[in-house]
Amino acid sequence: MTPKIVIVGSCMIDFTCFSPRLPKPGETIVGTKFERKYGGKGGNQCITAAKLGGSTALIASLGSESFAQEYLEILKKENVDTSHVKIQKDKHSGIAHITVTEDGENSIVIVLGANESLTPEHVDSAVDVIKSASVLLCQFEIPLETTLHALKLHRGHGFSIINGAPALKNFDPEILKLSDLFCVNETEAEVTTGIQPVNLSNIQQVADKLLAMGCNAIILTLGPLGAVYASKANRNVTRIPVTKVHPVDTTGAGDAFLGALAYFKAYHSHLAMDECIRRACVVATQSVLKFGTHASFPSRSDLPADLFM
Ligand code: RIB
Ligand code: NA
Repeated sequence: MTPKIVIVGSCMIDFTCFSPRLPKPGETIVGTKFERKYGGKGGNQCITAAKLGGSTALIASLGSESFAQEYLEILKKENVDTSHVKIQKDKHSGIAHITVTEDGENSIVIVLGANESLTPEHVDSAVDVIKSASVLLCQFEIPLETTLHALKLHRGHGFSIINGAPALKNFDPEILKLSDLFCVNETEAEVTTGIQPVNLSNIQQVADKLLAMGCNAIILTLGPLGAVYASKANRNVTRIPVTKVHPVDTTGAGDAFLGALAYFKAYHSHLAMDECIRRACVVATQSVLKFGTHASFPSRSDLPADLFM
């Protein structure tokens, strides 16, 4: 089957400490639990879409240690097409150092490792997969020139989404112009636009700035406040609220949102964007109720059937 959703993005090995709170600079505190899991925004978004029933391909780069083989097995189990996941000799896989606090908030430091070796040539080798995909989804954990190249290859062949995470300052605005949709959270929006702080009272200004920077359409994810959407065709922001829950771990919630959004754009393309966002928010909300990333992303059978109608 030709994958309908293609992700050109990162894979990371996640080392997560659960802790009562974040340590202060110079401070050591005692955590409650440690876990080593598989993440990276690219891999997480891909797994989300696959768990919802989407046919997916991941174009990515892993290191040569045993974690990489384990990650490949996980992707294969979810029926992800991994024929374009490359193992880089003499490189370690991307690493994420994550701290999750008692109230479910997370802070992350990443070291890109093998993700840095994901080149435009690598993407070229997957040109057929990219051109036949309904949706292309990329993030900012691989070289920007590679993302730009993927967007150029996919242009005219379907819908493209850029998740500007982690935030980058002063990147080539071509990336905004070439993609159909740009999605960031509040902190990423602050770095991207220079408007600080971003909150509901200035969200229209933030949207206007992003559209002025060249975006065709934007989504700002606002955690418990839901998400807002604006586009060149309708610059007035629309807010899509979410159900209030008590999160235990928000790591990867943004990825759950993006993977789900890609799924709904690919498989329910008749739906209005607001409705795709509402459904993606339901998936993301589910993910914060469980620990971890992949394990917390809901499968189709965990979700109400009307989400897929
Ligand atoms: O978005 C969550 C992800 O960010 C984690 O899985 C970590 O790997 C970092 O890439
Ligand atoms: Na979670």
